Amino acid sequence: MSISPLNCCINPSILSADFVNLEAELARISNADAVHVDVMDNHFVPNLTIGLPVVERIQKVSPVPLDAHLMISNADRWAPQFADAGLSSVTFHVEASDAPIKLARELRARGSKAGMALRPATPMEPYLDMLPELDMLLIMTVEPGFGGQAFLDVMLPKIRRARAAVDGSGVDVAIQVDGGITEETIIRAAEAGANVFVAGSAVYGKPSPEDAIESLRAKGQLAFGPTASRPNNVVFQQA
Ligand code: DX5
Ligand code: ZN
Repeated sequence: MSISPLNCCINPSILSADFVNLEAELARISNADAVHVDVMDNHFVPNLTIGLPVVERIQKVSPVPLDAHLMISNADRWAPQFADAGLSSVTFHVEASDAPIKLARELRARGSKAGMALRPATPMEPYLDMLPELDMLLIMTVEPGFGGQAFLDVMLPKIRRARAAVDGSGVDVAIQVDGGITEETIIRAAEAGANVFVAGSAVYGKPSPEDAIESLRAKGQLAFGPTASRPNNVVFQQA
């Protein structure tokens, strides 16, 4: 197993951005590791955001790679189309997939990283054998659907178990957390083992999103500790 320091990735969520000025909003986060794009269908979650045509336009103008989070039903049918659009990473919800291994392979075959998300109450253990099929595991730290909710501390043991499983099996899988990440909660999530952090309101709610990203990244990196030695599982690398 290759041992190198863990990198702390900050992926701002455009759910908290101004949807009428997305190109300008993307330019405000050019120091991010990726932009987290929340796709909601008003079926899997009780909210509606954007679909593939808008995501394709974002992909064209974004200064950073795209990290799509698909909160949509029937992921097996729709998720591959997002990979076909050339996105760096596509994450589907396991609760919305009948065949998650097949779907993860399809995403990779189309050139995207394959991410799999778990709602807060979805156990991780039934899926541990499929870790080698994934590039990223997304542990939701709020109920999906809306920005600005409070971080669920009750998810910390799940993050710890995910980190132990990933390190124990030596697979190169990033652990993403999404929901309620602030300068305070990022420390607990990073100490528990997450290394990719989605932040909506904690970035776009600040006067300088770029400063907010730097500050969050510093806090997360510090929380890993100076002797952090884990597989280097960076998913998002700027071209
Ligand atoms: C919630 C979304 C999150 C959300 C995070 O369903 O998946 O990405 O935008 O927003 P904050 O950081 O404000 O909790
Ligand atoms: Zn999200």
